[in-house]
Amino acid sequence: MTTNNEQQTIKNWFDNTYAKRGESYLRPKEAYYIFAELLQLKSEKNFLDVACGLGRMLEISNEYGVNNYGIDLSEIAIAKAKKKLPTAVLLEANAEALPFNDTHFDYVTCLGSLERMIDKDKVLQEIKRVTKPEATLCFMVRNANSWRWIFTKKLLFTINRKGHQEAKTYEEWELLFQQNGLKVMQCIPDQWPIMKGLKLLSLGRFNGFKTKQKSATPLKFANEFIFILQKN
Ligand SMILES: C[S@@+](CC[C@H](N)C(=O)[O-])C[C@H]1O[C@@H](n2cnc3c(N)ncnc32)[C@H](O)[C@@H]1O
Repeated sequence: MTTNNEQQTIKNWFDNTYAKRGESYLRPKEAYYIFAELLQLKSEKNFLDVACGLGRMLEISNEYGVNNYGIDLSEIAIAKAKKKLPTAVLLEANAEALPFNDTHFDYVTCLGSLERMIDKDKVLQEIKRVTKPEATLCFMVRNANSWRWIFTKKLLFTINRKGHQEAKTYEEWELLFQQNGLKVMQCIPDQWPIMKGLKLLSLGRFNGFKTKQKSATPLKFANEFIFILQKN
C-alpha cells in the first residue's frame, strides 16, 4: 500500500476541494445514469463505487435497489456522502487496500478516479479480489490524446499535480486492464460533453439521457473513456 507524502498531499487536496466547493466540484446527478444503464444494475446485488466522492453515483445506484457500498480517500467526502445516503456502507479508505471480503461485489464503478491513484496495479488487483467471477466493472478514465488534455492541460501547464491528475491513451489503459486480468467488453466516449451541449442548447430544460448516444468525437480523441470490463 502507498503510504507516503504524495498520498497525503492528494488526500489534503481533495479534502480542501470538497470542503470549499462541495457538490459544485462534480458533474450533476443526471450525468451518472449512463453508468448504471451500461452496467445493467439489478436490485439486491452488491454494488461498490471506488472513490465515491460525495456519493453522486451511489445516489443513482440507490434508485436501482442495489446494496450500496462506497469508499473514498477523503474523510470530508465520506462525511458529506453519509448525510445523503444513510443506508449505504460508506468508508474512508485507500483503494489500494479495500476493506471488504473476497468476491463480495457484483458491480464496481470507479469514475474519474483511477488516474488520481498512485499504484494503479494494486488498485486493480484489489478490485479483482473483492468482485465475483461474473462481476461487471465500469471505469471512466482520462484520455491523453484528447485536445483538452494536450492543449489546456499540458501546453498551458495547468495539470493539477497536487490532485494527481494524469492521463493515458486508449492503448495504455487497455494494456493496464489486460495486465491485471480484466478484459474490455466495451469502450465508449464519455457522454457528459454531449449532455452538457444539449443542456446549454435547451437553456437548462434538457435533463440528461440514460442510453449511449452517437458522439461526434471519435473515440480516440474523447476527453474520457468509459470502459466496461469483466474478469478474465
Ligand atoms: C474527480 S473525483 C471523482 C469522485 C467520484 N467518483 C465522482 O465521480 O463523483 C476523484 C476522487 O478520487 C478519490 N481518490 C483519489 N485517490 C484515491 C485513493 N487512492 N483511494 C480512494 N479514493 C481516492 C478522491 O478523494 C476523489 O474523491
